[in-house]
Amino acid sequence: MTLVGLAVGAALAVVALVIPWLPDQGAEQARIIDNVYWFVTIICVAVFAVVAGVSVYAVWKFRVPPGDMDDGSPIHGHTGLEIVWTVIPVVLVTAIAVYSSVALAQAEDIPDEHMVVDVSARQFAWTFTYPGIELGEGQPLTSGELVVPLDEPIEFRITSQDVIHSFWVPEWRMKQDAVRGITTRTVVQPTKVGVFPVVCTELCGLGHATMRSQARVLSAADFEAWVQERRRLAAEGASVQGEQLFVSNCGSCHTLAEAGTDGQTGPDLDSVLEGRDEDFVRESIVDPNAEISEGFQPDVMPQNYEEMFTDQQLTGLVEYLLEATGGGGG
Ligand code: CUA
Repeated sequence: MTLVGLAVGAALAVVALVIPWLPDQGAEQARIIDNVYWFVTIICVAVFAVVAGVSVYAVWKFRVPPGDMDDGSPIHGHTGLEIVWTVIPVVLVTAIAVYSSVALAQAEDIPDEHMVVDVSARQFAWTFTYPGIELGEGQPLTSGELVVPLDEPIEFRITSQDVIHSFWVPEWRMKQDAVRGITTRTVVQPTKVGVFPVVCTELCGLGHATMRSQARVLSAADFEAWVQERRRLAAEGASVQGEQLFVSNCGSCHTLAEAGTDGQTGPDLDSVLEGRDEDFVRESIVDPNAEISEGFQPDVMPQNYEEMFTDQQLTGLVEYLLEATGGGGG
């Protein structure tokens, strides 16, 4: 019976391996994590097949004949059997524990010289800061979209400005919580050029499902070109920066035709800001509870944007919103 179970288990394990269940492998870490995943899965499939096979066989073989009102024959313990079914799980669980710790250490191993990206999470957006790359005058490069070079080992230092979020790019496999007050880290070495989703995987409030961004992996040359382009835009003035700030911080919750965003968590800015003046737009950002649009709840929008943005950023954002919604009398 056990041999039949093992044979069925082996066949099922092969089927499990043939079907592509997981997202593409987009990082060195994905290969390591997937190996752990399949190691555990194959063990589980085999154990399940043996246990289910023996159970089904026993139910059929020892079923009660019609009309039999007996208690059945008495059962005594079997020391040999008990040793076997204790030792096998101990060996399997120990093997899984050892293999996973080695794999995790391997996945997070990074050379001393490496790129760092700071990940800041907040309801309901991601901000990526590149401490090693300056836009100009000590201002580090920041972006709402995660752009990284191919084949470069990257350390992500992750934190949150409010509740707990979790940073995850499925194609990279590595997942890490973002917690206010502490900095967590994870390591990824992208091995595939392309655009992948950045997903928040911790239920963090009304806009959790919209808390997405994208990770764009570029060749080293394209990455350098992107950095240069960001430097050029930064030199161009307030409202251009305002648009970038809007898209990376506000667009996942707010619709604004000019920016091409369609968030539904907060009010549609094309209608609520239409023709409003500068004071109103500024107040709506720094003190969102001062006036709540009909059909929306207070305390959904974070109230710390005044501390988060520099004065210059805030002015750029207000200027951009006035331009985009035709307000400010100008
Ligand atoms: Cu942030 Cu869910």
